[in-house]
Amino acid sequence: MIHFSQVSKYFDGKPVVNDLTLDIAKGEFTVLIGTSGSGKSTTLKMINRLIEHDEGKIFFAEEEIHKFKPQDLRRRMGYAIQSIGLFPHWTVEQNIATVPQLLKWSRTAIRDRVTELLELLNLDPEQFRYRYPHQLSGGQQQRVGVARALAADPEVLLMDEPFGALDPVTRATLQEEVARIHQLSGRTIVLVTHDIDEALALADRIVLLEQGQVVQQGTPLELLTAPATPFVRDFFGRSDVGIKLLSLGMAVERVRRGEQVDGEPIPGTLSLREALSIFVSRRTERLPVVDENGAPIGVLHFSDLVAKGGLHEQSTATR
Ligand SMILES: Nc1ncnc2c1ncn2[C@@H]1O[C@H](COP(=O)(O)OP(=O)(O)OP(=O)(O)O)[C@@H](O)[C@H]1O
Ligand SMILES: [Mg+2]
Repeated sequence: MIHFSQVSKYFDGKPVVNDLTLDIAKGEFTVLIGTSGSGKSTTLKMINRLIEHDEGKIFFAEEEIHKFKPQDLRRRMGYAIQSIGLFPHWTVEQNIATVPQLLKWSRTAIRDRVTELLELLNLDPEQFRYRYPHQLSGGQQQRVGVARALAADPEVLLMDEPFGALDPVTRATLQEEVARIHQLSGRTIVLVTHDIDEALALADRIVLLEQGQVVQQGTPLELLTAPATPFVRDFFGRSDVGIKLLSLGMAVERVRRGEQVDGEPIPGTLSLREALSIFVSRRTERLPVVDENGAPIGVLHFSDLVAKGGLHEQSTATR
């Protein structure tokens, strides 16, 4: 879907993106991660030509991006960022409708789309449609930003720290919403973050950048369990890799099927990390696990999460 071939970008004579080759497959959720200044935002902005690259080639849908007019690219790619906010003197509806307006959608089509998107992002349409950005909380503004990026049903969604500066709870909610949108729509998403947990929670594939180059790319599990260099290992943190791995697994993967135990059941889709907190808060060693219909599946044992060496090997085995 998007392909970088030996792409470089220089600022003040220094390479900020350096001979970058990268493939982003259709429908994939790719997360670009790296330390501050590693070239993440520059890489993202070169995709929709907010920044022009100096060397190499970038392809979108098999065509070199220079073949597209920048405005056409931007219509086909939604773009959501933390810092550039909404147009302050436009209502929520007008903000979301920016691209549909450009595409000259009918009024009814725009209205319906805005309603649909507000519902998708858990904002009551009638309550929020005519508000102005200053009448929204930060989290609500960011939702509207994501809705705006999605408005014309773009083929690609580019997001640069779209949930930055949010409290952890709102952030988690928005992450879940974006994950759901990705599952529902199968849209290609490229998200920039420096939050490791966010990357682990959302990515099909993580690309770790440093000094404008790819240090390693792979599934979250690959980067955690087979770091290519000490830098990668340090970046993802040696000490709590086990805990991070737990956030990748689901209760159902470790359940002992057929067993029974009393207590408030947990859903099989619950992450092992959340299950761990439940074990701790309930001070119990065993939790009943149910499927989406509430039917018992079996029992999750605390020891199966924390057994020495078990974290690593079992998680690897479940993928
Ligand atoms: N317009 C510009 N002019 C000069 N230098 C720039 C410009 N934009 C970015 N840079 C430099 O390029 C490097 C990479 O910037 P970039 O914004 O891509 O980093 P980043 O990985 O997104 O960092 P952060 O996590 O802090 O957002 C930085 O050293 C930055 O100072
Ligand atoms: Mg950045």
